[in-house]
Amino acid sequence: MALDHATTIEAYSDPQVAQRYARDYSLFWRDFPNEIFTDFAEGIPQGSEVLNVGSGPGYESERLRELGLRVVCFDASAPMLEMTRERGFESIQGDFMNFPDFGRRFAGIWAFTSIGTHLPHRMLPHVLRQIRGFTTGDAVLAVGVLQSRARGRRKVGGISRTYGDERLISYYTEGEILDILSRCAYEPQATYQHDYFGHQYLTAIANKF
Ligand SMILES: C[S@@+](CC[C@H](N)C(=O)[O-])C[C@H]1O[C@@H](n2cnc3c(N)ncnc32)[C@H](O)[C@@H]1O
Repeated sequence: MALDHATTIEAYSDPQVAQRYARDYSLFWRDFPNEIFTDFAEGIPQGSEVLNVGSGPGYESERLRELGLRVVCFDASAPMLEMTRERGFESIQGDFMNFPDFGRRFAGIWAFTSIGTHLPHRMLPHVLRQIRGFTTGDAVLAVGVLQSRARGRRKVGGISRTYGDERLISYYTEGEILDILSRCAYEPQATYQHDYFGHQYLTAIANKF
């Protein structure tokens, strides 16, 4: 399997794919475990700026805003960014393989099924190290991934064609995520697992140190 991450960006940049994604995931975010949002927000001073990396339609950004955080959305897809602008968020276009200069430091990074899903495993440490450069000293990081359960059939990666497009998908075990976070100098605080329509999600919250 070899699929460039640019092909994934291209897929999400198709307005129809973005609309279908937005339709499919509104219920996912309605049912998302609230404690993950509250535990993330608890470690961040009220009113601080948080960057949502791979923000998609902006459902999670709305939940984080309700908790008193100032969310800035970052995504490669123009139609996704149009949706977050309509929701009232500052929205910046770019590729998380090569972040722009944001001109500020964020107190939190929220990255759900983005850097941990749409890049090959070997690239995640590169992205996590870049993030260190534009976050505050005690920033909180939440990374959500599709989980490969250690038992049963081990999934590493593949190509999703859910919307007739082609998107690169990576899977992780809990141990792999904790190991990568530690290697990139983030101290894991908690992990959360939840299932949704046959997919297993893992979210890790960590502190920069
Ligand atoms: C699975 S969606 C997740 C969206 C949102 N976080 C959610 O969970 O609903 C992945 C998002 O990451 C964005 N994305 C994928 N590759 C990217 C890249 N290299 N740089 C920036 N954004 C990217 C896509 O455009 C899409 O909005």
